Amino acid sequence: MSEGSRIPGFYKLSLAARREVIAERTHVDLAQLEHALERGGLDTATADKVVENVLGIYGLPFGVALNVRVNGVDRLVPMVVEEPSVIAAASNAARMVRHSGGFRAEVVESLMIGQVQVTDVEHPSEAVERLEAAAGHLLELATKAVPNLVARGGGPRAIDVRDLGQRCIVLHVLVDCRDAMGANLVNTIAEALGPLTAEIARGKLGLRILSNLSDRRRVHATCRVHARELMSAPRSAPGGEASPTSQRSDDIDGLEVVDAIVSASRFAELDPYRAATHNKGIMNGIDAVVLATGNDFRAVEAGAHAYAARSGRYAPLAVWRRDGEDLVGELELPLSLGIVGGTLRVHPTARLALQMLNVKTADELAMVAASVGLASNLSALRALATEGIQRGHMSLHARSVASAAGALGDEVELVAARIATDGTITVDTAQRVLSELRALT
Ligand code: MEV
Repeated sequence: MSEGSRIPGFYKLSLAARREVIAERTHVDLAQLEHALERGGLDTATADKVVENVLGIYGLPFGVALNVRVNGVDRLVPMVVEEPSVIAAASNAARMVRHSGGFRAEVVESLMIGQVQVTDVEHPSEAVERLEAAAGHLLELATKAVPNLVARGGGPRAIDVRDLGQRCIVLHVLVDCRDAMGANLVNTIAEALGPLTAEIARGKLGLRILSNLSDRRRVHATCRVHARELMSAPRSAPGGEASPTSQRSDDIDGLEVVDAIVSASRFAELDPYRAATHNKGIMNGIDAVVLATGNDFRAVEAGAHAYAARSGRYAPLAVWRRDGEDLVGELELPLSLGIVGGTLRVHPTARLALQMLNVKTADELAMVAASVGLASNLSALRALATEGIQRGHMSLHARSVASAAGALGDEVELVAARIATDGTITVDTAQRVLSELRALT
């Protein structure tokens, strides 16, 4: 589907109509989609089997980012997030990027890391040598621990040993987990290797656990946007289009916006305080995809921020530069995601999200998530570098206030537009505007 993620006017449709359009575009059965999205898809009996001391279920909005094209393939991207404007912002930036062909992404490596710690090592450098010499044997042992993974074409690939000082050494086992996130697989392998590792090192066995700094499973995404897109593209509408409450910024020259975004990128490169917020904007997009697809967002967050600090100084995960009249963005981060196992076994909504996305491998999912992260970053920087984010945020906030005031259907946009323009976004004002509106019709 080449134009499959571009759906003009999508945000204006009723919720039921949106579901129909998405079911049709993604070839997902509508009844299945409705079932998976009603009350979050999970029933209390299932939830009770997933974690402990269950009392119920906590819902979050499930939306879809439009306009996303990655490596020439359109994707309708499910996003689960509570913050207004995240989905609109990603859709809007993705629309600008698709004018230049969309995002390009690749998975740099696809190996998870398991760690085995050995303490009280008498002669660490000799222990490292002995473990390196035994790598073949250790890999054989690791392979025997995960026969099903090996049958799927994955498995342990390499051993790496480091002397950490203070008589402590660590053995890394690098594992190709195929389409699984791989935490259980890697932990199984690390535990299987533990006793022999400690014996060879002649030390005391310590921890055996994966590392969430999965820097051998990184994804790299890039995009290019012409200055004209940054100038004239409206923002803040939920589908990445003009809405009654959106504001054009075409009074600002496109090249000025490019330079302002590059300057915002430099700010993040110079200052960890800014870099943290810059990266939060990236993770707004990535986490929402990670959550929707039933993946472990804590693992992803831990890996992303550890990677951002890998030089010893916390840095932005994405940087932006000018190339002629284009703005070029580049993002790299570790992303360990799965499309099999874990939450997917129990969660119909997570399974639905993957069906909607139509990804065939975990690597494809990582490339889409990274692209949405880059889109989120672009949208945030564009807003910050021009008129600030509050106007866009407030116009979307106005919609939820209008709903809270009792507005229904088309009334929501009309009331939201009025209270956003007046600048008094309160339920009281929305109720007054709603009464006035109803009196007129
Ligand atoms: C808000 O959720 C995210 C931003 O603060 C990101 C940024 O400052 O780049 C807008």
